[in-house]
Amino acid sequence: DKANLVDSFGRRIDYVRLSVTDRCDLRCRYCMAEKMEFLPRKELLTLEELAELAAIFVRRGVRKIRLTGGEPLVRRNIVQLVGDIAGLKAHGLDEITLTTNGTQLGDKAEALRAAGIRRINVSLDSLDPDRFAFVTRRGSLDQVLAGLDAARAAGLSVKINMVALKGVNDAEFAPMVRWCGHQGFDLCLIETMPLGWIDEDRADRYLPLDGVKAGLDEDFTLLPSLHRSGGPARYFDVQETGRRIGFITPLSNNFCAGCNRIRVTATGTIYGCLGHDQKVELRDIFRSHGAEAVDAALDVLLAGKPEKHDFAIARAEPAVLRHMNVTGG
Ligand code: GTP
Ligand code: 5AD
Ligand code: SF4
Repeated sequence: DKANLVDSFGRRIDYVRLSVTDRCDLRCRYCMAEKMEFLPRKELLTLEELAELAAIFVRRGVRKIRLTGGEPLVRRNIVQLVGDIAGLKAHGLDEITLTTNGTQLGDKAEALRAAGIRRINVSLDSLDPDRFAFVTRRGSLDQVLAGLDAARAAGLSVKINMVALKGVNDAEFAPMVRWCGHQGFDLCLIETMPLGWIDEDRADRYLPLDGVKAGLDEDFTLLPSLHRSGGPARYFDVQETGRRIGFITPLSNNFCAGCNRIRVTATGTIYGCLGHDQKVELRDIFRSHGAEAVDAALDVLLAGKPEKHDFAIARAEPAVLRHMNVTGG
């Protein structure tokens, strides 16, 4: 068997975030500008290539694959890819999961479950219809709520992702904790990250989550949890609801020392870090030289994987120019 993936800081990489498209049916204000240019469709990896890459990763010891976007459910035949990757569970994969905006779950939750998904993360930044429409620019809250109902009905575990935005959803944290409790969902609050130009200054919206947590401590009993999802969140058990709340704090509290992941874009670029330009272009190597060459390319990527991001919000410019929808979060 091939050697496991270990970077120059001794971190073992067993988690791959695979972006299947950079496109999205929404335009969340903290994520995208109103006018975005997307990657040319002809440059995308095919679903077959994505599945083959996933198999190569699993051979190198990867145990978790998360499909991301953009919005992964806008990619045609995505359920087929899920099924193919789920087949790798026979070869060492523990989990195939995805992060979605939820708009298409009404149609797809059942098929995703049948294809092998057990757990999904769904973005939901507000429970107020007008505020939701404002943040997403083109989303309908009802559609996402219907999608979440379908996910529950299909037996999927759900984690809600809420990006904390000053002056937008900062009165909704306690209500969201209660609502998630009623729905049976876990919740993660996320600090806004400086990735790509948007139509506003992210510094104006940035809320450090230590303050948000202190506020929630007044309404709820948050007990530190040993739970680890394999991601960057620090979790607490909410005694009043019996569900978990996680805090993802790239800016106020760096978690990079425990980084276990790499990400692949829809056109086959692998990035060592969400917050750096360090990358290896995999697609052409893969197409002309096959799996062996991919192994070599992965080793090059890992040798140069950055120690940490250096996000700072106290400046208007983004830390990197590519948006979250290209790297897949
Ligand atoms: P699980 O822990 O597996 O449930 O997933 P997750 O919370 O890591 O993934 P999800 O796709 O739901 O992402 C939630 C937020 O965490 C997004 O804003 C991601 O961009 C962010 N995130 C995930 N991994 C990293 C990372 O390595 N660095 C940074 N800075 N942010 C990350
Ligand atoms: N900063 C923080 N979170 C972001 N997301 C998208 N863009 C950003 C950003 N700039 C969130 C989405 C989704 C997750 C993958 O990342 O809301 O839940
Ligand atoms: Fe689309 Fe997710 Fe970005 Fe919103 S945050 S625009 S749903 S990719």
